[in-house]
Amino acid sequence: MFKLRYSTDPAWVETVLSNFDAFLIDHAAAEKKASGMALSMVSHYPDKPDIVKAMIDLSIEEMIHFREVVKIMTARNIQLGADTRDEYVNKLRKLMRNGSELYMLDRLLIGGIIEARGCERFGLIAAALPEGELKKFYVAITESEANHENLFFDLARNHFATAIVDERLNELLDAEAALVAELPIIAALH
Ligand SMILES: [Fe+2]
Ligand SMILES: [Fe+2]
Repeated sequence: MFKLRYSTDPAWVETVLSNFDAFLIDHAAAEKKASGMALSMVSHYPDKPDIVKAMIDLSIEEMIHFREVVKIMTARNIQLGADTRDEYVNKLRKLMRNGSELYMLDRLLIGGIIEARGCERFGLIAAALPEGELKKFYVAITESEANHENLFFDLARNHFATAIVDERLNELLDAEAALVAELPIIAALH
């Protein structure tokens, strides 16, 4: 476990709560992309049994999240939106270094950081929502994303020495904090 180095502005939570339908559309897209990313890890590392197992499980779990968000949307009469680029994720992906070892380490750590940010933000929403089914759902999602965060770091530690993991994580956490601080405040996960 580690701490993110930028705390989300409370104005973000207010923006989400007052535009919850728009947020749900983005949340659904984020879960679908997370499932796809996990599956692409399986394709990229077919020779790493720990990664294959973890990423198959993750892909399924993110797909279940996607299904649950779509269910909530359907009940509110909201449709899915067209796929859009997630600038936050794209900018993080640009930090991945070339070279198979470096790339794998960066991919795992950035995967973990994305989960950690999701966990932070879903947690803020869960805390702000009134008692009810929606709050329960976001509490459960927050716990689930916390587990995903650990899963990526466990994989990184399976394959790399602690000092190497910690050094790169330190750099990436600074980069992520700078990046997230510049995101516009909108009713979206990022
Ligand atoms: Fe998820
Ligand atoms: Fe996740």
